[in-house]
Amino acid sequence: MAIEIVQPKPSVGLSKMAVSETHGEDSPYFAGWKAYDENPYHETNNPSGVIQMGLAENQVSNDTTLNDLNYFCFSFNISWSELTMAMASFMEEVRGGKAKFNPDRVVLTAGATAANELLTFILANPGDALLVPTPYYPGFDRDLRWRTGVQIVPIHCDSSNNFQITPKALEAAYDHATSMNIKVRGVLITNPSNPLGATIQRKVLEEILDFATRKNIHLVSDEIYSGSAFYADEFVSIAEVLESRNYKDSERCHIVYSLSKDLGLPGFRVGTVYSYNDQVVTTARRMSSFTLISSQTQFLLASMLSDKNFTRKYIKINRERLKKRYEMIINGLKKAGIECLKGNAGLFCWMNLSPYLEERTIKSELAIWKTIMHEVRLNISPGSSCHCSEPGWFRVCFANMSEQTLEVALSRIHEFIKQRKQ
Ligand SMILES: Cc1ncc(COP(=O)(O)O)c(C=O)c1O
Repeated sequence: MAIEIVQPKPSVGLSKMAVSETHGEDSPYFAGWKAYDENPYHETNNPSGVIQMGLAENQVSNDTTLNDLNYFCFSFNISWSELTMAMASFMEEVRGGKAKFNPDRVVLTAGATAANELLTFILANPGDALLVPTPYYPGFDRDLRWRTGVQIVPIHCDSSNNFQITPKALEAAYDHATSMNIKVRGVLITNPSNPLGATIQRKVLEEILDFATRKNIHLVSDEIYSGSAFYADEFVSIAEVLESRNYKDSERCHIVYSLSKDLGLPGFRVGTVYSYNDQVVTTARRMSSFTLISSQTQFLLASMLSDKNFTRKYIKINRERLKKRYEMIINGLKKAGIECLKGNAGLFCWMNLSPYLEERTIKSELAIWKTIMHEVRLNISPGSSCHCSEPGWFRVCFANMSEQTLEVALSRIHEFIKQRKQ
C-alpha cells in the first residue's frame, strides 16, 4: 500500500524556477489530455469515452516499425557512433535527397524537446527573446521558456493569407520586442507547421532568412514533421535554401529534428540539433550530456536507420497513409459543414469552427471547446492554446487512432454541428 504524506502547505521553499508560472502546463492543451486520461475511449470497453485528438502521435505505420524493431533488436552489427551517420542520411532521405547533411554537425539529444531547449540555452540569455510565428506548438511555452528564462515574442499570423509568415509580421514582432527593451536573439519556425499541418513555401523561407541576416539574429527551423509531408517535393528544408545560396549566412541557422513523429517512436527519445555554426555544435555536444540517449537505443536506431530498404519503404508507406487519413478527416468534416485550412503535411488539421462561435472571442472559443470535451467527448486543442490571434480555430490530430475510431469521432462531430445549427 502506498504511504500517503499529508502536505497542507509546505513551509520549506523551492527555487524560483520550480515555482515560476512559465512551465506553460496550465493551458487547455494539457487540460484536454487530463480529461482524456480520466475517461479514455475504447471501442468495446468504453465506447462513450473521450477520443484523444489532442496528441500529435503517429501510429499509422506502427505495424511497419514494430514488426521490424524485433529484427533490428538482434542485429547490432554496427558501431554506436554510426547513429549520427545514420541520422544524417535519414534526414537526407526524408527530404528526397534534396539536401545534404554532414554527420559531424549532428548532435544527438533526447528528442526535439531537449534539442529546442538546448539550442535556446546556447543562443539566448535569460530575459532575451525568440520570435515565434503563431499559432505555435503549445509545448514551446515550456520548452523554450521555463528553464532558460527566455521569452517568446509572437509573430502574429492570420487567416487572411492562410497564416503565412510575412516580412511585415516579422518586423512588427521585432519592433514590439525592441520597444520593450527586449533583445531578440532569433526566429524559431516549425516547418511543416504544427498546428497548421502545412509546409512553408521556399519564398517565405527566403524572406525569413533575409530578415534574420538583416537583424543579425539566429534562425532555428524545427523540422520534426518533415517526413510527414504528403509529397516530399512540397517540403523545402532550410538546408536546401542554404545550399542554393552556397551556405552564405549559414552560421546563424540551426535545424531541430527527431524520430518521434516521422518514425512514430516518441518514447525512444531520439532527436538532434543540426547546426551550421561550429561553436554551436561544440557547445551543444557538451551540453547534450544532460539529455543523452541510452546506448541500447542508439544501437537499435542506428541499425534501423542504416537499412535503406527499410527507411525507403517506411517513408513511402507513411506518407501515403497520412495523406489518406488527412483526406478522410477533411472530407468527413466538410460533410458536417466544417472547413479546414488546406494542409499538405503533419498529423493534424487546422479546423475552423469560427462560424459556430456565439461571438468571435477567446471566451466563446473556450466555451465551445469545453462542450466538445465534456459533451461530444473529443479532446481537441483550442487555437488560443497555440496563441492564435483569431478565435475559432482548433488543432485536430488524426494519426494516433484507428480508422474506426476516427469514424466514431467524425460522427460525433457531425451530430454536434447538427444540434448546433438547430
Ligand atoms: C513542433 C514540435 N517540436 C517538438 C516537439 C517535441 O518532440 P519530441 O517528442 O521529439 O520531444 C513536438 C511534439 O509534439 C512538436 O510538435
